[in-house]
Amino acid sequence: MKIVNGYKLMKYAQDKKIVLPAFNTTNFEVTYGIVKGLQSTGKGGYVQISSNNLELSNPKIIKEMVDFAMEKLDVDVPISLHLDHGKSFEDVKNCIDAGFTSVMIDMSQLPLSENISEVQRISEYCHYFNIPVEAELGAIRGKEEAQALSENEGKTNPDDVAEFVSKTQCDLLAVSIGNVHGLKEKPNIDFPLLKEISRISKVPLVLHGGSGIPFDDVRHAKEYNLIKVNYGADIRKKFISTFGKAYEKDHNAFDLKTLSQRGINNVAKTVEDIMDNID
Ligand code: G3H
Ligand code: ZN
Repeated sequence: MKIVNGYKLMKYAQDKKIVLPAFNTTNFEVTYGIVKGLQSTGKGGYVQISSNNLELSNPKIIKEMVDFAMEKLDVDVPISLHLDHGKSFEDVKNCIDAGFTSVMIDMSQLPLSENISEVQRISEYCHYFNIPVEAELGAIRGKEEAQALSENEGKTNPDDVAEFVSKTQCDLLAVSIGNVHGLKEKPNIDFPLLKEISRISKVPLVLHGGSGIPFDDVRHAKEYNLIKVNYGADIRKKFISTFGKAYEKDHNAFDLKTLSQRGINNVAKTVEDIMDNID
């Protein structure tokens, strides 16, 4: 199967009443491990990469890697390739040109009116190419402390949701409801807020910062029009620790191929564990 269009993947999730996992990649091994894990669970999801991580390569290279993995592993589950935390119009354009099938534009650092107008501009562009757009309202702690100094400060304001969604024409809404990026801070999901947002939002919701959120909470959040949940740190930690452990055991370890294969399998296993638990 080829990489599928983001709208098609969203429809697949809505028809099957499942939440789609989105796994962050950085390099070849992590990409291959994610695709391997998705295939072995028999369920679809996203491979995604942030603007930040794209600094190491470029969208074309990532698209090639996903194509290669899907072909080699004879993938028959739907997988979309998504730009995560897109930080510029140029990144969005380059990703679409390279064959990405879904996009996030993250202008959450801007005041509301500017966030709206930037997302609006990107949505218009992406929709012309039939690509769905995820946008973020509020700031998620862990990386966006500049806008969210305290636990409550950056949370999505439900009073802004209707205007944001209708003006930006976004297709998915990333919310800040006590979810955090990375593993340093503990998430604390504010379910009353999630419920209120889901009542107002005309589009399905996205939960960032999946690593560290108890699986019970993710399953509970599915009741509130949640379509996508992002996992980055869990995958990366597993991959990095593969090499860390080998080095601790033997400071002269140099069999990079075997360790890379182990890293791929550890990533795939983590993907499987997550997917088995969020359904
Ligand atoms: O956009 C990426 C995700 O929100 C990843 O968050 O690293 O906490 O799982 P995480
Ligand atoms: Zn995120």
